[in-house]
Order: sequence, then structure tokens, then C-alpha cells
Amino acid sequence: METVAKLAGPRLAGAKVVGAKLASALAAILAVAVALFSMRYLLPGWPAAPAMVAQNPFAWPWLPIHAVLAAVALLLGPFQFWRTPKGGRRGWHKVSGRLYVVACLLAAPSGLILAFGATTGPVSTAGFGTLAVVWFAVNALGWRTAVAGRFAEHRGWMIRSYALTFGAVMLRLYLPIAPLAGFSFEDGYRVISFAAWVPNLILAEIFLRSGPAGRVMTWRRVSQPAG
Ligand code: HEM
Repeated sequence: METVAKLAGPRLAGAKVVGAKLASALAAILAVAVALFSMRYLLPGWPAAPAMVAQNPFAWPWLPIHAVLAAVALLLGPFQFWRTPKGGRRGWHKVSGRLYVVACLLAAPSGLILAFGATTGPVSTAGFGTLAVVWFAVNALGWRTAVAGRFAEHRGWMIRSYALTFGAVMLRLYLPIAPLAGFSFEDGYRVISFAAWVPNLILAEIFLRSGPAGRVMTWRRVSQPAG
């Protein structure tokens, strides 16, 4: 029995590492896809812009500013977490980390402005508006803790930050599901203005508070034997 338990332990840990790797890879692919598609706001006429979003009274100039900056953040995020920054990678981590935070800090106020013009009304304004304020605050704290050299705290704030940034992906996954759950498009959109990010933040918090927090990010070191 003891031998079975001894064998099952490492196997379970191995399966968890593989599962975490696959989930991270899928999340990164979705993030890159949504980010690249969002870059279409750089093109004249904003091809494939949803009509209700294009009707937002603050769409010009805030929509392209917001969409492109937020897309830069969404694109850079996965590469920040992919590996623990060590040696030569520290330089890249610093440069792209600064770019990520600057993109978030500029995309958040433009998101807040757009939230006030949301065509689905005050509930969506509240959902996206709160997200914009929290997103800004979390990134500001991430920046401050990095500059102060408090890297454990910095890591926590950046995990929260990307959980919020990833809301852009969740929103686009939930939109086609909402009508299947019986919501009209407008009601679904209102619910999603909160549902796209609140659960992400709760999951990030659970992850950060659970004992082995961080192992997923450093699976290389965990899965490779020492020496
Ligand atoms: C995390 C904080 C974010 C907030 C508060 C926010 C807020 C908003 C708001 C209020 C709108 C207009 C919606 C309407 O008029 O009904 C919008 C649209 C949009 N946002 Fe964000 N957003 C955030 C993150 C992102 C991210 C990370 C991306 C990355 C791609 C993104 C890309 C877009 C795009 C492309 C649109 C236009 C709608 C579309 O084409 O699907 N946003 N955002």
C-alpha cells in the first residue's frame, strides 16, 4: 500500500504539472488571438467592430486607443509568466514588464471613459468601470513594489493584474454562451461586464493564498530533478 501511495504521489504531481502546462498554453493562445484581432482598430473603418460598441459616444478616439493598448498588455502578459526571470532573461522581463504596466495604466483610463458610454447602460458602466479602476490600482501597486524591490509582493500584484487583463478573453468566450443560458444579448452583456473578471480575480487570490503558490509558474524547476 505504501509503495502504491509512493508511486501515485509523483504521478499525480506530474499529471498536475502537465495539466497546468496545457491550461497555460491554451490561455496564452487565446490571449494572443484576442490581442491580434483587437489590433484591427488600427485599420481605417474599424472592420468587424460590433455595432453597439461603435455606437459608444466615446468610441472616437478612446476605442482604438483602449483596444490597441489593452491588446499590447494582453499580448505581453503570457511571456512575463512563462519562465522565472533569471540571468539574461531579467533584462527582457524588465523591459516588457514596463511596457505591460504602461499599456495597462493607459488602457485603464480609456476603458473607464468607454464604460461611461456603454450602450447597454448603467450596469455595464458599473462592471467595466469598476474593472478599470481595480486594473489601474493593481498595476500601480505592481509597479511600486517592483521599484521598491519587494518582488514577492510584485509577483502577487502582477498575477492579479493579468487575471484582470485576461477578462478580455473571458468576455469573448462568455458572449456566445450567454444566449444559450437564456439571456438576451443586452442582459448577457451586463452580466458579463462583471462575470468576465470577478471570478478571475477570486481564482488569482485562491492561487496566491494556496500553499504551493507559484509552482505552476516555475514548473521547470519543480519537474526537473535537482543537479
Ligand atoms: C481590463 C480592463 C478593461 C476595461 C475596463 C475595458 C473596458 C472596455 C469598455 C468599456 C469597452 C466598450 C464597451 C461598450 O461600449 O459597450 C471596451 C471595448 C473593447 N475592449 Fe476593453 N476593457 C478592458 C480590457 C481590455 C483588454 C485587455 C483588451 C485586449 C484586447 C480589450 C479590448 C477591447 C476591444 C477590442 C474593445 C472593442 C469591442 C470589441 O471589438 O470587441 N479590453 N473595453
